Amino acid sequence: MEASLYAPALGYYQTRYQPIGEQGDFITAPEISPLFSRTLARPLATLLEPLPDACILEFGAGSGKLAYELLLALDQLQVRPRVYYILELSPALREQQQQQLQQLPEPLYQSVQWLDHLPAQAFNGVVLANEVLDAMPVERFSIQEQQALAWGVTERDN
Ligand SMILES: C[S@@+](CC[C@H](N)C(=O)[O-])C[C@H]1O[C@@H](n2cnc3c(N)ncnc32)[C@H](O)[C@@H]1O
Repeated sequence: MEASLYAPALGYYQTRYQPIGEQGDFITAPEISPLFSRTLARPLATLLEPLPDACILEFGAGSGKLAYELLLALDQLQVRPRVYYILELSPALREQQQQQLQQLPEPLYQSVQWLDHLPAQAFNGVVLANEVLDAMPVERFSIQEQQALAWGVTERDN
């Protein structure tokens, strides 16, 4: 799974291919309507408002629409995260996010930072991931006779 998604230059999230939208492979709620992000902004504002230097970290921000609408909606609720981190592994989507988020008012755009790894320092705030967990490679195993057995894929007789 890791190789098929992330192998350099070949993995699904490592090529120039842009998978989101009518010309791509899938569509997600933030792409369909800004209502998703605006609805999410309300509970987020309640969580972030009392925290000093509150930040948001979004895993896998797709086209950047969720971040764009969220930052605008939070601003309207007078909540501005100190930093809006985006941890994105796809170079093509990172570029798309930059184009989308450059359309924000300058101070909001300045709060966005792209990361390649989790931030080194702990932070106060919220971690978001919409339709991302199912892309993360995991190891499968089963317990048989009190032993943990790793699952894998094999081939036999071609
Ligand atoms: C199905 S898309 C969802 C995009 C966006 N969150 C949305 O709701 O439209 C998955 C996103 O996660 C990113 N991604 C995939 N694996 C990731 C990983 N291990 N860590 C961070 N982002 C990842 C992809 O590049 C893509 O931006």
